[in-house]
Amino acid sequence: MINKIGVIGAGAMGSSIAEVFAYNGYNVILKDINLGYAKKGLNNIERILNDFKLYNKKLPEKEIAKIEKNGIELTEQQKEKIIKNFDKPVDIEGILKKITPSDNYDDLKDCDIIIEAAFENQDVKNKIFEELSKYTSENTIVATNTSSLSITEMASHYKYPNQAIVMHFFNPPYTLPLVEIAPSTQGSDNAAKEANNLLSGMKNHRDKMYPVMTKDRAGFIVNRILLQVINEAVKVYDENIASKEDIDIAMKKGAGFPMGPFELTDYVGVDIVYDVLKTFNNVYGDRFNVSETLRNLVIAGYNGKKSGKGFYNYI
Ligand SMILES: NC(=O)c1ccc[n+]([C@@H]2O[C@H](COP(=O)([O-])OP(=O)(O)OC[C@H]3O[C@@H](n4cnc5c(N)ncnc54)[C@H](O)[C@@H]3O)[C@@H](O)[C@H]2O)c1
Repeated sequence: MINKIGVIGAGAMGSSIAEVFAYNGYNVILKDINLGYAKKGLNNIERILNDFKLYNKKLPEKEIAKIEKNGIELTEQQKEKIIKNFDKPVDIEGILKKITPSDNYDDLKDCDIIIEAAFENQDVKNKIFEELSKYTSENTIVATNTSSLSITEMASHYKYPNQAIVMHFFNPPYTLPLVEIAPSTQGSDNAAKEANNLLSGMKNHRDKMYPVMTKDRAGFIVNRILLQVINEAVKVYDENIASKEDIDIAMKKGAGFPMGPFELTDYVGVDIVYDVLKTFNNVYGDRFNVSETLRNLVIAGYNGKKSGKGFYNYI
């Protein structure tokens, strides 16, 4: 029975993961290196919830406009009914109260699942797993949100390696419902199945959560396929076959992508895409040889939306 969740790392992913669990009624400990960082994570969660409230408020307006666009004129009474149907109050205070910021491993000792979302660095993650060994029992599930590193290596630093799994959420978890789950090589399938059952009963702001089972292989399912598409898009651009704008339009209008590969790279971070591609290049070889264009953007500090410039300009 899962009651309490621990999240390590209160950055972009950790804070959003904590929010999703609290939104589903779970108590969460949100731990970072110091209390200031953990509280910054809590502030981010408050912002996410305020945005969600605003989004919900606009839903009836959008629905009414959609119906009227089809030539149907609604009475005031019908509009009121739509507004009432969409009235989903968001208990911001209640959700925030479920999350306790912390800088202390001791606070994690009653957690049934602990999800690590610290920096994407194998040593940092190995150390966290080693430290967690002092505060957990053989029943605690210990998970990593890593995008490309080895859970098998993290598990080898953990006291109960059969309980170590990957729970890879997508950015941002409150709107993207997919979670890739993979046991470590040393692991039994039980911990992965328990995590799968837990997530199957949860929802985020838009949808029910969709866990899928995979194996401990770099990139799991989505990133391994998606990064190949992005890398190929950069090569098409490098070969002057089309402009980045036209490649983005082509993938959106011809392949049904919600974002073009260059828009997506800027959104995720050019540096992150570059690092993950380098990892894939090491693991899978030449089919992931990384374009010089990406490398040059990273060297220049053009890391996408967060730095104001990437493939596109944002200032
Ligand atoms: N950003 C994405 O799009 C995305 C998507 C899926 C998975 N991930 C993965 O999630 C993880 C976190 O990514 P992020 O984008 O949230 O990073 P981030 O830099 O926004 O946040 C990382 C947080 O971890 C904290 N931290 C670092 N070392 C710590 C330690 N030893 N103990 C406690 N806290 C520690 C940092 O202070 C920071 O607040 C990474 O493994 C990343 O690969 C990221």
